[in-house]
Amino acid sequence: MANIKSIDEANVKGKKVLVRVDFNTPVKDGVVSDDTRIRAALPTIEKLIGDGGRLILVSHRGRPAGEGFEEEFSLGPVARRLQELLGKDIVLCRELIGPIAKETVDAMEDGDIVLLENIRFDKREKKNDPEFASELAELADIYVNDAFGTAHRAHASTAGVAEHLPSYAGYLMNKEVETLTSMLDDPKRPFVAILGGSKVSDKIKVIDALLDKADTLIIGGAMCFTFLLAKGKGVGASLKEDDWVKEAQRMLDKARANGVDLLLPVDVVVADAIDENASVEIVSIDDIPTNMMGLDIGPKTVALYSDAIAGAASIFWNGPMGVFEMKPFETGTLGVAEAVAQNEAADTIIGGGDSVAAVNKFDLADKMTFISTGGGASMELVEGKELPGVKALS
Ligand code: 3PG
Repeated sequence: MANIKSIDEANVKGKKVLVRVDFNTPVKDGVVSDDTRIRAALPTIEKLIGDGGRLILVSHRGRPAGEGFEEEFSLGPVARRLQELLGKDIVLCRELIGPIAKETVDAMEDGDIVLLENIRFDKREKKNDPEFASELAELADIYVNDAFGTAHRAHASTAGVAEHLPSYAGYLMNKEVETLTSMLDDPKRPFVAILGGSKVSDKIKVIDALLDKADTLIIGGAMCFTFLLAKGKGVGASLKEDDWVKEAQRMLDKARANGVDLLLPVDVVVADAIDENASVEIVSIDDIPTNMMGLDIGPKTVALYSDAIAGAASIFWNGPMGVFEMKPFETGTLGVAEAVAQNEAADTIIGGGDSVAAVNKFDLADKMTFISTGGGASMELVEGKELPGVKALS
């Protein structure tokens, strides 16, 4: 972030500040059910209102059609939660650009906050439409991007708008990029990376990149079965990607060539269905029955992985070890989460998405050094890609 200005350098007093945040949060029965991303944006919001800025908050939520207002994707519940957290009135503006939006923001006083409705209600947002970006910019004097979770999207409010206004990175954006970049550039060693999830095809670039950085790479989740196939094992009815076996083989070869210890399960929890009430068995990976599927790593694997984790000086974790949402298949993910939490001396970084949900479920979040608010964004950063939302600020 060397050539990117921080909000500490901005003079916002009396200015209209368009702040892109990532309030893409789950909502249940009209109430935000996980406010992590809202709370993560508070330091930037509080700093800017404390300095007398007039804030225009911009976010998306979900993936609406882009044809106007849809109740299901409204930021109404977010506005209510933000209001509770700040103890301050928030004006939710139904119009995104145009005369009503302009009037609403022009009526603000220092320290006031207007939240524009879901920016994706206009389909020009995702197209990074230049005219839309310019009209959005006309609402404000200064642009701040604090939406790390959306930094991998080149949209009007994350990229285009920065061409028109003096631009700054918010505290969350800075912290996310700096933490993940320094882990990749100069990790404390041994550096143990843990990857889970169901598909090799989704994670191949991350695996490839981490094989250039990590000392140990731990693989869990259903993607381990494509690796086990590459090692000539039978995987029964487990989820696998036949088209990716060659790539998995290439990764095994790369690990060997780079001296990376690539760990795969030695035993798995199998069942004949993905079902809360399924009867489960623990089997060696040499004995997976043909009609059963592996849905979690087994206890010997948890012990093996925990040993590697205990010896790490830095740890990066993305993706669960099994179907942790269901009791019979949660033990592997819980075991790994506990092992990471117990290594108090290590830098422990949770790379967004389902692994964050797992750490929260097991109530271990406060034991981690850093939990990223970006799933896709943190993966792309680990892959070595330049994030458009970050690039636009430079
Ligand atoms: C996320 O949750 O990963 C971000 O908010 C981006 O959302 P998107 O995948 O719909 O662009």
